[in-house]
Amino acid sequence: MCGIVGYIGKEQAAPLLLEGLSRLEYRGYDSAGVAVYSQREGRLNVHKAKGRLKILSGLLGGGDAVEGTVGVGHTRWATHGAPSDENSHPQVSRSGKIAVVHNGIIENYGELKAFLQSQGVPFASETDTEVVAHLVEYFQQDGADILTAVGRCLHRIEGAYALGIISADAPDQLIAVRKDSPLILGYGEGCSFLASDVTAILQYTRRVSYMDDGELAVLTRDGIQCYNHLMQPVEKEICAVDWEIGAAEKGGYEHFMFKEIMEQPEALRRAVFPRIRDGEVFLEDFSLPEDYIRSLRNIHIVACGSSYHVGMVGKYNLEKMLRIPVEVSLGSEFRYMDPIVDGKTLVVVISQSGETLDTMAALREARRRGAKILSIVNVVGSSIARESDQVLYTWAGPEIAVATTKAYTTQLAVLNLLGLYLAKVLGSMAAEDRREVLKDFLSLPEKLERVLENKDGIQYFASQYFNRDSVFYIGRNIDYALGLEGSLKLKEISYVHSEAYASGELKHGTISLIEPGALVIALGTCLRLFDKAMSNIVEVKSRGGDVLALTTESRADEMAKTASGVIAIPDAHPMLLPLLGAAPLQLYAYYVALMRGCDIDKPRNLAKSVTVE
Ligand code: F6R
Repeated sequence: MCGIVGYIGKEQAAPLLLEGLSRLEYRGYDSAGVAVYSQREGRLNVHKAKGRLKILSGLLGGGDAVEGTVGVGHTRWATHGAPSDENSHPQVSRSGKIAVVHNGIIENYGELKAFLQSQGVPFASETDTEVVAHLVEYFQQDGADILTAVGRCLHRIEGAYALGIISADAPDQLIAVRKDSPLILGYGEGCSFLASDVTAILQYTRRVSYMDDGELAVLTRDGIQCYNHLMQPVEKEICAVDWEIGAAEKGGYEHFMFKEIMEQPEALRRAVFPRIRDGEVFLEDFSLPEDYIRSLRNIHIVACGSSYHVGMVGKYNLEKMLRIPVEVSLGSEFRYMDPIVDGKTLVVVISQSGETLDTMAALREARRRGAKILSIVNVVGSSIARESDQVLYTWAGPEIAVATTKAYTTQLAVLNLLGLYLAKVLGSMAAEDRREVLKDFLSLPEKLERVLENKDGIQYFASQYFNRDSVFYIGRNIDYALGLEGSLKLKEISYVHSEAYASGELKHGTISLIEPGALVIALGTCLRLFDKAMSNIVEVKSRGGDVLALTTESRADEMAKTASGVIAIPDAHPMLLPLLGAAPLQLYAYYVALMRGCDIDKPRNLAKSVTVE
């Protein structure tokens, strides 16, 4: 979603801001802009353009055409007002002296706009953000300095926001504000940064701190001072980011998505190997007491999108391992559904970004009801990680492609490890059964490498079926959960209509859609239900549909007798098969999108980190 970068230092700001924004392109956006203070002219120069960042960069000669050493930049993902030059950020006040970049939504902007208009303030855009620029200026009418005016403005605005503010009257500082939308501060030599995402500033500094909700920061060339909502100074912990810059670059691959699919065996090694020792699971810094675990009545998993699909697999596996009820809810539903959650419920929150607003809101609702929160998160220091009682990181490294791949796989792995750990505490699974799963866990990265080696085979199937307009994913049990993810992958990057069904539901309506030309991707990795999968394939074939099937190597020949094509994955413990089965589905979606000429890493209308409701 929207991205923010800010810089104050001794270098020219514009090239640096544009470079930072280019690192945020993956988040999804539709327009971009920068505001830079020119010492010579004594004013802010604001440049904005609808469309890709390269349009703005072209207009500004890569930034060389803009003079000044302090500024803010933004990539916008439209919420209030269509993508246009006017609606792009930075938004400026009437005098042009205050420029604001904003992520999130100002919920009471209508009321504030009416108030400002009644005071004679003209509006130049349809955005909610513009009210902030005007309001800050309004609060300076009595001569207040920028910090005081921003503080007053914060008392009036409601909603979720990360703000970067620059004033021509105070050009030796940048103001940053955070509420419910991430903002990171970067500490350099003689310079300071702000960014919505650490990747934007990683090449300039690795020393960062994470702003907390309600905090305001003043950035100068000499350092950064943070304040809480009462404007009392707060000391921020400075963390060192250890992500390699190369991890956020394509490294010779055509697309980040393909690179990240290929990185999965390594990501699995990082997520799993340090957590298995002497045939047992060890979860680092695990602080939930054993008595508390034994007192649990149920587990409630909360997540959105692919992370929710991980939860769906988790429900099957955790219930098997723990024999207590496991419910899975979408973050966007949980927050409004009066869930049965209390001190005897462990709420497991799953999120790659750690910033998804609906998931975050669900977390807070669960906490309000007395539940403890354990989160499975990829981005270190993200909001969800910081608001949880217990965090298990997935250690997948930066995921840049909008469509998640390696984060999905590592989330699955960590959720399974959590299940095994809880099963040990609860005594709900025999030690040898746990060891059997753990043994198989260790062989997964190598098996996944074999799956990925078969990419040409999957590319071949994609070439056969890439022009189908509608695809159905069917499967039972864990295969149904895996089908949901396969279907999402295909539709989000290739724009092919696809749906996932529990195979048993075919007869209850969906089968009416099966006719010659329909493509069904039948998942048959759940071997105890193999015969059922075979019958469903026959049903589809006999109505003229094509069936591309996924099963394990041991049953591939049998399936090939019926299906139109078969993709085989190595055999493994049944609970772990989705960890191998996801990759062929990711590759299939990737190749179909490639053959259809889609913008794979930045699919239309989508954002990597969904920080609005
Ligand atoms: C799909 C995808 C999304 C995310 C969802 C949740 O490929 O990436 O469906 O899974 O937006 O995001 P996180 O996991 O960051 O909370």
